[in-house]
Amino acid sequence: MITFNKTDIENKLADTYSFNWTAPSNIAFIKYWGKVDFQLPTNSSVSMTLKNCHTNCEMTVTIDEAHKLSLMFEEQADNKFETKLRKHIDRLSLEYPVLKEFSYKFKTSNTFPHSAGIASSASSMAAINLCLTELLLKLEQVKEDQFFREASRLSRMGSGSASRSLYGGYVDWGKTTKEYGTKVENIHQEFSHVGDAVLIVDSAEKEVSSSRGHQLMMEHPYKEHRFEQANKKCLEMIDILKNGDWKSFIPLLESEALELHGLMMSGQEWFVLMKPNTLSVIDKLKKWRKDTGARVGFTLDAGPNVHLIYHMDDRDKVVSFINQELTALLENGKWIDDQIGTGPQKVSVNE
Ligand code: DP6
Repeated sequence: MITFNKTDIENKLADTYSFNWTAPSNIAFIKYWGKVDFQLPTNSSVSMTLKNCHTNCEMTVTIDEAHKLSLMFEEQADNKFETKLRKHIDRLSLEYPVLKEFSYKFKTSNTFPHSAGIASSASSMAAINLCLTELLLKLEQVKEDQFFREASRLSRMGSGSASRSLYGGYVDWGKTTKEYGTKVENIHQEFSHVGDAVLIVDSAEKEVSSSRGHQLMMEHPYKEHRFEQANKKCLEMIDILKNGDWKSFIPLLESEALELHGLMMSGQEWFVLMKPNTLSVIDKLKKWRKDTGARVGFTLDAGPNVHLIYHMDDRDKVVSFINQELTALLENGKWIDDQIGTGPQKVSVNE
């Protein structure tokens, strides 16, 4: 095992003890649902990185054998997440023993409301692991040209979907390798300005966690077929994003969202995460789109809220449709106005 002495570490770190990154959330177009071993996905997935919904993470490390860890989320102690993070860092220490030489203080905050029904595990795990990867970079454990790839791999070990929050635009995870996400290049102009209106149907914590959902998928009677289909759909989705074909994009996006929920509803231990208003929103969208021809489709995560994915040129139409026809179906009329984003950002510290 590699051992480090205090002076070695101090020489490498100089006075850089604090790290600060923001990382975005992402919305999957083709879903990760099912995993084996250490968050290795059973099928590939493709997502769009968001711009406004993100997590900021400030990490301060001190060289300290006591190897303590504390986490404050929006100024409040978060014991549950703290325990998860401790396990995560201990797991990473098997590969990077130097991580055991520190005590850690994390301060995180989200730009989106806690109760908005938006999963924060992707953006928070990505922001935290960017800080950890930067520490490893400073300690010459990670190479500069592999920084984002390694940050994606470490994020994946914290939460699968976090592996896709390390790059801007569109990201696939599982097509090239299951270890980390990679950016999808050569996207058609038609998909370079895309909005995501996150319609909050219900912000309550969901009854079945994603982790449990992944587990149940591994016992699902349709699992083999699903994994095969999802891999095919990823290739199709990537082709569509490169060819700029909204006409094919919409049915693929929507049938995939319904397939995810169909799988949840058709296992031995079934569960339903959609609410009656989820269906009303979808129904209204279908009718309105037929009349207007707007380039907009819906997708769903593992929850009741609806993401409207739309071409930015149709934004005015989509926003007035939401205001006129949908707000009555939403919790306190609430929706989050987001769009495609450029990926994580380093925040300057120690200067
Ligand atoms: C339905 O990444 O939250 O949102 O790896 O257990 O942390 P863990 O699961 P998580 O699962 C996300 C599932 C999904 C689809 C997706 O984002 O691809």
